[in-house]
Amino acid sequence: MPSRSSPVVIVTGASRGLGAAAAICLGRAGATVILVARGRAELVRTARQVRAAKGRAAFQTADVTDPRAAAAAVALARRRFGRLDGLINNAGVLAPIARLADADSRAWRRNLEVNLLAPFLWSRAALPLLRESRGRIVAVSSGAAVKAVEGWSAYCAAKAAVTHLTRVLAAEEPEVTSLALRPGVVDTAMQTLIRSKGPDGMRAAQVAYFQGLKAEGRLRSPEASGRVLAWLALQAPREWSGAFLDIDDPRILAGAAHFGAPAAGP
Ligand SMILES: NC(=O)c1ccc[n+]([C@@H]2O[C@H](COP(=O)([O-])OP(=O)(O)OC[C@H]3O[C@@H](n4cnc5c(N)ncnc54)[C@H](OP(=O)(O)O)[C@@H]3O)[C@@H](O)[C@H]2O)c1
Repeated sequence: MPSRSSPVVIVTGASRGLGAAAAICLGRAGATVILVARGRAELVRTARQVRAAKGRAAFQTADVTDPRAAAAAVALARRRFGRLDGLINNAGVLAPIARLADADSRAWRRNLEVNLLAPFLWSRAALPLLRESRGRIVAVSSGAAVKAVEGWSAYCAAKAAVTHLTRVLAAEEPEVTSLALRPGVVDTAMQTLIRSKGPDGMRAAQVAYFQGLKAEGRLRSPEASGRVLAWLALQAPREWSGAFLDIDDPRILAGAAHFGAPAAGP
């Protein structure tokens, strides 16, 4: 059972995919996790998995674009656990998948609200407790932050922006380690969406590339990328603050290799 002094981490987008995997890994490492997403039933399931992994879990059903939700989650960390050590800004959306000329402006705005505004809101709310703990903020960025993918104008712009926001945060907040991670191409609902809706707005060759990764079993598992996120949130070296990290960076692979590994059998 984690002690009152065990580290506490907020994970947004913890109902499935990368966020759920990171939360479960944190639980295995003995942390307390505050899970945030809109899907209540899925959050209940993740919370159960975190507890089964020996962690402590609380959850909050919320839309990450609501500033009151960020304040409430941080208040929960303070009131119930007395501390906050990490924040993983993981919740994200890809839509709209459409060429810029055809993109719907409401969907475009919504993308930036979830992928960029929310990390700002949650980071701002968490900073007072993270300064106290000398904690860490990890933004889940993407290769799309540096690569122009046709049909993903909002997503590319938002991920580039959140990556640069990470650098500004690192410059402004010397007590807090602020990182952005490019997690690889991961086998989650977002990839299912790309394979099914991609043909509506992406280049055929690009869709075929993603379909091929799935068909050839070359997508990363959420567990592998989630482990790296969990490790970064609790143990990333402080001198990395401001970095845009690639999941294949050997320093990361070495550090995270055994973090929160499942207990060996009898
Ligand atoms: N999969 C990849 O290949 C890949 C590659 C690079 C980067 N990423 C990034 O990795 C992160 C996780 O994505 P994933 O692949 O795990 O996708 P996913 O399976 O679709 O999960 C997205 C998560 O975000 C949550 N979310 C979305 N909008 C939200 C909102 N408005 N309020 C609260 N929660 C919200 C979802 O929960 P609810 O729907 O329950 O709210 C869900 O838990 C994203 O930032 C994504 O951009 C993924």
